[in-house]
Amino acid sequence: MSRPDNSGLAKPWPGSAADETQFRDVIRHLASGVTVVTSSLGGEPVGLTATAVCSVSATPPSLLVSLTANTRTAQGVVETDAFAVHLLPFRARGIAEQFASSRSHFEAVHYSVISEKRIPLLTDVVGWLLCHVKEKFWVEDHLVFVGRVVGCELKDTAPDPLLYLDRNYRRLLPGAERGAENLEPWGSSQDVGLPGFGW
Ligand SMILES: Cc1cc2nc3c(=O)[nH]c(=O)nc-3n(C[C@H](O)[C@H](O)[C@H](O)COP(=O)(O)O)c2cc1C
Repeated sequence: MSRPDNSGLAKPWPGSAADETQFRDVIRHLASGVTVVTSSLGGEPVGLTATAVCSVSATPPSLLVSLTANTRTAQGVVETDAFAVHLLPFRARGIAEQFASSRSHFEAVHYSVISEKRIPLLTDVVGWLLCHVKEKFWVEDHLVFVGRVVGCELKDTAPDPLLYLDRNYRRLLPGAERGAENLEPWGSSQDVGLPGFGW
C-alpha cells in the first residue's frame, strides 16, 4: 500500500473566530447524553437540562459543567458551591423538556434533598453524581464549574439513555454497537485490567 502524500494540504489559519452559524451547524452533530443539573438557590430547588457536561478525571473523580451564567441554576451553584448531575433515561424525555422550559421545573418531579446545602436528587434517573465545586471560571456568558464528585450512584444497570443530537432527542439502537477495540492505551497505570479510561 502506498503512503498518502499530504504535503500539499496546508491551509491558511482561518481567522480569529469561526462564523457562529457554521459553528452551530457542526457542533449540533456532537451526540450527547442528556442530564439535569440541580442545585439550590435561597433554599429552593433549582435545576436545568444540560448537555455541556464532561468527565475530567477519575483520580480523584471530577467532572465539569458549563452553565449560562444568568440561569437560576448557575446562581444556585455559585451560592452553594455544590451541584448534582443526573443522567436521564430515555423515558424521562418529558423531564428534560420540563427542565429546559419556562414552566416550573420541579412540578410533579420526584426527588429527595441532601441536607445542609439542600441539593435535590432526582429519583427516576440512570444515575447521579453529587459534586463540590473545586474551581469555577468564566467563558464568555457561561460559568464553567469543575466539581469534585463526593458521591454517586448508578441506579439502572441496563440503562436506555436519553441522547441529544441535531436539535432532537434520540435513543440508542440496541445491537448497533460492536465490542470496542484499542481502548487500553488510553488507560492510566491505575486502569490496568479495565477498558479504556476505566469508565
Ligand atoms: C438539550 C438541551 C441541552 C441544554 N444544555 C444546556 C447546558 O449545557 N448549559 C446550560 O446552561 N443550558 C443548557 N440548556 C438550556 C437550559 O436547560 C435552560 O436555559 C433552562 O430553562 C435554564 O433554567 P434555569 O434558569 O431555571 O436554571 C439546554 C437545553 C436543552 C433543551
